[in-house]
Amino acid sequence: MQEVRKEARERMKGFCRVCKECDGRACAGEVPGMGGLGTAASFKSNVEALADYKLRMRTIHDVSEPDPSTKVLGYDLSIPVFAAPIGGVSFNMGGKVSEEDYIMSKVKACDANGIVGCTGDGVPPFISEAGFDAIKAVNGKAIPFIKPWEGDEFFEKIEKAAATGCTTFGIDIDAIGLITLAKMGRPVAPRGVERLKALIERIPGQVLLKGIMTEEDALAAVEAGAAGIVVSNHGGRVLDHTPGTAHVLPAIAEAVNGEIAVLVDGGIRTGVDVLKMIALGADAVMIGRPFSIATVGGLEEGASKYIQQLTGQLKSAMVLSGCESIADANSNMITDVLGQ
Ligand SMILES: Cc1cc2nc3c(=O)[nH]c(=O)nc-3n(C[C@H](O)[C@H](O)[C@H](O)COP(=O)(O)O)c2cc1C
Repeated sequence: MQEVRKEARERMKGFCRVCKECDGRACAGEVPGMGGLGTAASFKSNVEALADYKLRMRTIHDVSEPDPSTKVLGYDLSIPVFAAPIGGVSFNMGGKVSEEDYIMSKVKACDANGIVGCTGDGVPPFISEAGFDAIKAVNGKAIPFIKPWEGDEFFEKIEKAAATGCTTFGIDIDAIGLITLAKMGRPVAPRGVERLKALIERIPGQVLLKGIMTEEDALAAVEAGAAGIVVSNHGGRVLDHTPGTAHVLPAIAEAVNGEIAVLVDGGIRTGVDVLKMIALGADAVMIGRPFSIATVGGLEEGASKYIQQLTGQLKSAMVLSGCESIADANSNMITDVLGQ
């Protein structure tokens, strides 16, 4: 991983510093780029919120071979991780790797290591097109995320996505806040629950809504017919000064009460972070920037190495918290900064 990160630092020069800690400080305001919007308070909050929680270390138990696998949204996962949708290599990551090579490598690495990759969308159209080709290459075992475009464009993209053989369709409804789209003259507008319901009914598969930060929106997503939500502030790229996702997750998971799948992203970097989010109520997590760095730095091998590193870290954290399986993870394993 050290070599992969060194290579990524070279290739992403001017766009991402590949910091020791990916916490939004060095790249504040760099959108386009890999940073958070404005002061990057939302990006930083994600990392800080996770750091507020600690794992209660347990050493007297019989868990020596924990099982980190799980099933979410019908996918059998070797670990409860999805690679978050991140696109736009040329204007976000420096363009030393092509959009096609980047997304193909990321999605294939996920498939080869028993997890699921997601693909992004935006202006220009080659971002989603490259994603669709990658999903076809893994026989549909990946999730395309489409922005909630107004009018025909949305369903034209859904139709193309359906042709990949995928079974889940993601919509990043928080794209209503993306200045990158607004700058390109293509802003997207919000939809109320009835319009969202009508949209979801026309989609030929299960729908995952990304960009939920409150219990109200989580319950509205259930009402609209979503199969799952991603608790996310888009990595701090749409609205400055939101809470960190780890802070809002427990209340959202409680409100949803197992009716649909709850995923979360934002600031998750290690297997310990993954276990914290599961213990806080998520069924699985999405990881964004670290996957992009590993893929730009080492293509399929780089992304594979990162997944293997996460797996080792997760298993080790499960042993040291006495957690035998993902289903066993719960809030008793967590303590806050004061040890309470
Ligand atoms: C450069 C960049 C591009 C992104 N593009 C998309 C996208 O096309 N669709 C989407 O749903 N989310 C997109 N995201 C948000 C990520 O999917 C994810 O929510 C976020 O990166 C998670 O935070 P993390 O990077 O701290 O793990 C993007 C994020 C970044 C940094």
